[in-house]
Amino acid sequence: MIPSRILGTGRALPERVLTNAELERRVDTTDAWIVERTGIRERRILEPERVTSDLAAAAGLAACRSAGLAPSDLQCIIVATVTPDSPLPSTAVSVQQKLGAGCCPAFDITAACAGFLYGLAIADGFIRSGQFTHVLVIGVEVLSRVLDWRDRNTCVLFGDGAGAVVLGPALNLDRVPCRGIISVDLAADGRGANDLLIPAGGSRQPTSVCTASEMLHTVKMNGKSVFGAAVRHMAASCRKTLSDNGLRPADVDLVIAHQANIRILEAVADRVGLSAEQLYVNVQRYGNTSSASVPIALDEAVRDGRVQPGMTLLLCAFGAGFAWGSALVRW
Ligand code: ACO
Repeated sequence: MIPSRILGTGRALPERVLTNAELERRVDTTDAWIVERTGIRERRILEPERVTSDLAAAAGLAACRSAGLAPSDLQCIIVATVTPDSPLPSTAVSVQQKLGAGCCPAFDITAACAGFLYGLAIADGFIRSGQFTHVLVIGVEVLSRVLDWRDRNTCVLFGDGAGAVVLGPALNLDRVPCRGIISVDLAADGRGANDLLIPAGGSRQPTSVCTASEMLHTVKMNGKSVFGAAVRHMAASCRKTLSDNGLRPADVDLVIAHQANIRILEAVADRVGLSAEQLYVNVQRYGNTSSASVPIALDEAVRDGRVQPGMTLLLCAFGAGFAWGSALVRW
């Protein structure tokens, strides 16, 4: 089996910035409350005329370019999202068309904020098995379209964006034996399903029978329960990935964690024994972009030069489901 490695990264963020000051005018909140409880100062909102696959294709194209590949070289496209263009067909097939990627397999996966890590694991498996050589994995969300903008408990937290990676075989394995995706840990616990959800839009509650006032097509969340579970499970998964690979926290050069809330990041770091300097943080600029947050942060860190060849990266994420995971990547 040939391990996989990340050949290129990309991201796409809408230009429109929504600041905390603007939210102060929409709901009963303050910039001080949002910054103190979450670390978020602003988030991006997709222009009304654009859709999820537009953002996803832009991030995917950037990742192909950084990998030195054309979209026609892709053998598979995986899109992780909870905000697809529409329930049917997949957003991935629209991305395939917008990229001009030929008729390669293309499909969506849903694991909420952990979606990118789940997609990375699937792509890694395809490459290890020899089925495909170049797989595009995109995390993308347009959460602004599924928020109740009157609900201060949720609307201040989320933003729109897309991040992507192209995975390929770690061909130089003989010379650099440990480069690439070293290991991935995934888990889920459906007992948390009611703590973070969009109730309507599926078979349980078709949108056709929803009243506008119920807003059941928008995100509902038990913030306290999500916060506790996020810290507990992300920390446990990070510790497992480190011990599976015989590493100590100090061996990690950079942690690219899901950007939901600065307090969650700090609590996870504290439990695992990681320092603030090891954490990549951009939640202040984008808010929580769910499955897009890890690949956006990774692309920023790579392009900023924070990630250098030979570095050990720890990726981790947690989201609705609950679903979570972590991955060890040697760059
Ligand atoms: N502005 C002002 N006050 C607010 C706001 C707001 N935007 N939102 C809630 N409040 C109020 C609440 O109504 C509550 O008022 P009350 O005491 O009168 O009832 C008060 O602030 C305190 O609420 P808490 O829930 O105790 O605040 P907490 O410190 O727990 O922070 C938060 C709330 C930020 C939602 C936190 O629970 C959290 O981050 N949870 C995780 C949520 C998350 O990240 N979800 C994303 C998906 S999952 C993931 O990505 C990990």
